[in-house]
Amino acid sequence: MSWIVRESGFDPEQIAHHGNKFMVGNGVLGYRGTLEEFGKSELTATIVAGLYDKVGEQWREPVNAPNGLATTVYWEGTPLSVLEAGPRVGAGGGGGGPELVAHEQSLDLRRALHQRRSVFRMADGAEVTMTSERFCSAARSELIVCRLSIESSRDGELTIVTGIDGDVWDINGPHLERMESESDATGEAVSLTAWTQELGLPLTVAEAADIVGEGRGELVREETSICRRFHINSRAGEPVELVKYVAIFSGQDGAPVGDVRTAAVKSAAVARQLGYDRLLREHADRWERKWDASDMTIEGDEEAQLALRYSMYQLHIIAPDRSERVSIPARGLSGQVYKGAVFWDTEMFMLSFFLHTEPEVARNLMMYRVHTLDGAKRKAAEYGYDGAFYAWESQETGDDACTLFNVNDVFTGRPMRTYFRDKQVHISADVAYGIWQYYAFTGDVSLLLDGGAEVAWECAKFFYSYGYFNPRKRRYEILDVTGPDEYHERVNNNAFTNRMVKACLRVAMDAMEILRDRDLRRYEALLAESTVSPDQIRDMHDRLYVPQPDAESGLIEQFDRYYALEDVSLPDLKARMLHPHEYLGGGNGPATTTQILKQADVVLMLHLFKGDYDRSVKQANWAYYEPRTEHGSSLSACIYAMVAADTGSPDWGYPYFMRTATIDLTGESKQYVGDLYIGGTHPAANGGAWMAAILGFAGLRYDGNKAVLRPALPSAWQAMEFPVRLRGGSYRIRVSREEVAIFAQAGNPEPMRLVVGDLELSVAPGHDVCVPYVR
Ligand code: BGC
Repeated sequence: MSWIVRESGFDPEQIAHHGNKFMVGNGVLGYRGTLEEFGKSELTATIVAGLYDKVGEQWREPVNAPNGLATTVYWEGTPLSVLEAGPRVGAGGGGGGPELVAHEQSLDLRRALHQRRSVFRMADGAEVTMTSERFCSAARSELIVCRLSIESSRDGELTIVTGIDGDVWDINGPHLERMESESDATGEAVSLTAWTQELGLPLTVAEAADIVGEGRGELVREETSICRRFHINSRAGEPVELVKYVAIFSGQDGAPVGDVRTAAVKSAAVARQLGYDRLLREHADRWERKWDASDMTIEGDEEAQLALRYSMYQLHIIAPDRSERVSIPARGLSGQVYKGAVFWDTEMFMLSFFLHTEPEVARNLMMYRVHTLDGAKRKAAEYGYDGAFYAWESQETGDDACTLFNVNDVFTGRPMRTYFRDKQVHISADVAYGIWQYYAFTGDVSLLLDGGAEVAWECAKFFYSYGYFNPRKRRYEILDVTGPDEYHERVNNNAFTNRMVKACLRVAMDAMEILRDRDLRRYEALLAESTVSPDQIRDMHDRLYVPQPDAESGLIEQFDRYYALEDVSLPDLKARMLHPHEYLGGGNGPATTTQILKQADVVLMLHLFKGDYDRSVKQANWAYYEPRTEHGSSLSACIYAMVAADTGSPDWGYPYFMRTATIDLTGESKQYVGDLYIGGTHPAANGGAWMAAILGFAGLRYDGNKAVLRPALPSAWQAMEFPVRLRGGSYRIRVSREEVAIFAQAGNPEPMRLVVGDLELSVAPGHDVCVPYVR
């Protein structure tokens, strides 16, 4: 049961939400969870990872490919469409359409399969059932496959119009121009090719469709679409089955249009020959492996179980497991929101999941930062700094897609100056942190040697040039920044930022030492072109100011003079809002003069550096900042869940965990900032849900040397069990209310050091240990 996400009935209000919720994808393609009969008004989208376009002066954003699954089915000339059938199941058709007797949309998480079933009662009394299944092949990255079946209770005429629709939803488009449709000589496949506006890159969608016994149908070409029309004499109780094999290729890697088109047509034709069942089998096999490496069971909490699986599903469908040239955008592959850009979300909220389950993907994510280093250097130079200042919103080149005016004022419609791009300097430290995490978890130095050490070094150089040496206090400070709490821009000594910079400087020193030992020439070359020496970086590291807990209260001030701001309650602040979408931050937002923060900031630092702070400090800060946090970002709740668990109060953390884990199931998240639409999926929260369960409630902490387990299960959870990979070894960990058990796979390269409570032990390959613990 807890592998299926299901929704019954049709509510037009939920179309956008269900498009996110029922998405399928394979890391290269993301297809929104819309229905076959939907078009651009229902936000149908096929997003190709890493393919961006810019039209005029509008924002650059991902390209939405022509919809290869577009299909309309008619019964005796009347379309079978939930849109025509009225809003409620059984409510009778709107505008004389059919009556929707039953409707259900679901996702089979285990096989990453989207399913729908709709039963229409037609004016002539016939009951027509339409079912479909679709998947974005995990085995063939260019392929989406769909099987549609129609069965009627009476004999009658079915018309099926199916093909490729190039008239797609765009936020700042249209991105595709010069659409060329083709039908290949054998008539086996049709294709639509178009070019992006900015770079003129070709993109082809090819489709091979099959309806057994119905030949090739009649070709219908329009300016932006190519379809085939089939007229079928349907017999009562005998299903008519349409299978569509859709292949999508682009010229992203420089391939000319001829090659792109040929590859797409060939792939669709090959898929058709292989057939639906075989393609589904190879796809499902891949998914079985993904789940073997990651699935988690929770005893005693079905709701959490499903939500966690679903969170992992969302991460799997957008994981770049084949390419180190793309990373994961803040809204995954669910559309063009947030410009399809990659934020710190990846390193700080998603990376952990991949590090523990699929380190190869974690490596790809970090190699993306290596490949975009030049963009980060350009940004640093643009602002007059040294080294690498990573993009706040990164696309394929690493140049910053974030604008200086990211939000419009809801009252005047005027652009507001925001400082995400200029002042959220912690991004460079987050990148360096991610690189070191990969090394610590895997012991694999290749990332450092392939450019990771250089990235860390360039980030450290950036901070050296950005930092300020306060001669009176004889310490380095980081001034004029925006921390994770974006409602307070341009502050001094944000605790989180300063602590992250310190970590970055440490990483740079350690990574450079590894580089020196392994690749002296590269090391020397980096130093030769650098105006900063390792000694200077060390000095900054040692003398960098990081705000400390107050000796009495244990509180850490979020930034200089934060306590001087008005201490208003969150409900009181909200009562001051004059518009529901009003932006709380910016130059003059209602939160800017108060202590209300957007998202976990100090508390995030306490999570990341949990070993540096004792429990009373964590408790005091959690208690202080929690009522002052608006959780205006989906990145916030998981952090509060984890720190609550860390301080021995998992039940305080549990509601935050559930909020994170269900975000894309319920669709309850902010949809607007100012007049900016920000809906879509929330991969950072999905990663946060995984972190809250494993790093929070199971209390797993790995430092590259030993694993520590300090479980704190929420009351309802009797036990949880999950696999992890650490330093090339595979383990299964089971945490119950009294004990933890670890099984190490026989093929593991070395024993693992494990600490539970006061006990330190070693788990040899092929062995298991079971240790009681006291909370
Ligand atoms: C958050 C950022 C986050 C971005 C993308 C913003 O609302 O404040 O921390 O990186 O969304 O998810």
